[in-house]
Amino acid sequence: MKKRIAIFASGSGSNAQKIMELFKRSTEVEIALVLTNNPDAYVLQRADNFEIPSHIFDRKEFYETDHIIELLRNLDVDLIVLAGFLWLIPKNLVENYPGRIINIHPAILPKFGGKGMYGDNVHKAVLAAGETEGGITIHYVNENYDEGEYIYQAKYRIDKSDNLEMIKFKGQQLEHQHYPRIVESILKKIKK
Ligand code: GAR
Repeated sequence: MKKRIAIFASGSGSNAQKIMELFKRSTEVEIALVLTNNPDAYVLQRADNFEIPSHIFDRKEFYETDHIIELLRNLDVDLIVLAGFLWLIPKNLVENYPGRIINIHPAILPKFGGKGMYGDNVHKAVLAAGETEGGITIHYVNENYDEGEYIYQAKYRIDKSDNLEMIKFKGQQLEHQHYPRIVESILKKIKK
């Protein structure tokens, strides 16, 4: 039986795209659903391109109902993959998917994590701090922003001449290189 994942994303979805590409012809893994809080997110177009169904939700549905959990259960989802998803995961979702939700963060946590630390905000903070290294963290998700157990971290060098675009690019390269393979390896360990 195929393992099934759901991807949550709020924006462009370039990481989601890499994961879609990896599993496009897979006999082992299927992307059951792409979910977003943002009706304008480009990730919806990407899902369409791969003929993956999608679901748009609002705050009320996400935080005040069990609808998303029911949706995921009905689709027999084994792993929830956050790929640039900006809302905090509610308690009921964490409790229903213990050890089954992972996230990618564009910094070497625990530095540059927490509420408000996403996307460009992270990169700007890294530059402002004069860091000589940047990186990525893939981690399990709990009820707090960026706090679950780390699964994988990788670093890149920051040169004095690097601007926001440069470090963003370096981070994105690492994310695209590692997130899909980490998702795959976690799925291999899940028993159906
Ligand atoms: C990625 O860099 C990801 O690490 C970051 O959002 C970006 C999404 O890019 N996530 C966070 O900042 C979470 N705190 P994408 O939409 O192109 O995949």
